[in-house]
Amino acid sequence: MKSVFVDGILEGKSALITGGGSGIGAGIAARLAAQGAKVTLVGRTLEKLERVAGEIKAAGGTARAASADVRDYAALEAVIAGHAEAFGGLDILVNSAAGNFLAPASTLSANGFRAVIDIDLCGTFNASRAAFAHLAKAGGCVVSVTATQATIPTPLQCHAGAAKAGIEKLTRDLALEWGGSKIRVNAIAPGPIEGTEGMSRLAPGDVADGLKRRVPLGRYGTIDEIAEAVLYLVSPAAAYVTGATLLVDGGTSLIGAGPFLELMG
Ligand code: HXC
Repeated sequence: MKSVFVDGILEGKSALITGGGSGIGAGIAARLAAQGAKVTLVGRTLEKLERVAGEIKAAGGTARAASADVRDYAALEAVIAGHAEAFGGLDILVNSAAGNFLAPASTLSANGFRAVIDIDLCGTFNASRAAFAHLAKAGGCVVSVTATQATIPTPLQCHAGAAKAGIEKLTRDLALEWGGSKIRVNAIAPGPIEGTEGMSRLAPGDVADGLKRRVPLGRYGTIDEIAEAVLYLVSPAAAYVTGATLLVDGGTSLIGAGPFLELMG
């Protein structure tokens, strides 16, 4: 998909993307880089990050890979400092790292619940907090990836739903506190997006068929469509937008838990 934005809109900017080694995070990184941003991809598996960085470079962009677990604040601080040193600062933070699996709340272990809260919610706080001074210097912005499950009760997803709801609340709190530092803080809530690990894990077989039929726009979204919406949020077009969660879900949240209810048996 060709961007609707003027080419080079992020020239002179840099962005760090957690969860940049695959799926939505990788797509966002590629789109920001294609618009001129120098990007650092952060995740647990260096090999995946390097593969995406290689693709971005092959397309003419500037990218580096830095491995860190978003649950490890000190490691994040180090990769953010490395980014700022390599690229002369940090303008854009995208929080896309997420963990998830289908599990009934009645059998989910406390550690399983905590693992997802730690990755999604604490990881988002950790990266945002570690990036604060750099973003304040640049008058930068944060975009965090949530999900429609943040507001729509969805079976077998209480851990991820609670984490994503927490991120949306954190987004509003940080936007309030950090507006004075000229930092905008927003979130984006994708619906079902094709070609992601999340969709293959979370909507198996029959559920996927039923879901696709009932999405008001009649199809799954694409990673490109999420990346383009993030591009809007980090661009000057959104200069007066902060504390918002932008739904990019083809209307999926309008139908409630819908097809996911089949997962309850
Ligand atoms: C039940 C599970 C489980 C499963 C892990 N656990 N997988 N419980 N069902 N399928 C439990 C483990 O038993 C353990 O608890 C605890 O979680 C930690 O597991 P570990 O494997 O030790 O932890 P870790 O290596 O940190 O991995 C955590 C992980 C991660 C969350 C499972 O590997 C992961 O999610 N990977 C997938 C990444 C992914 O798909 N990302 C896209 C997400 S899609 P015990 O008690 O046994 O010690 C997305 C869309 C959002 O976010 C839509 C919904 C809101």
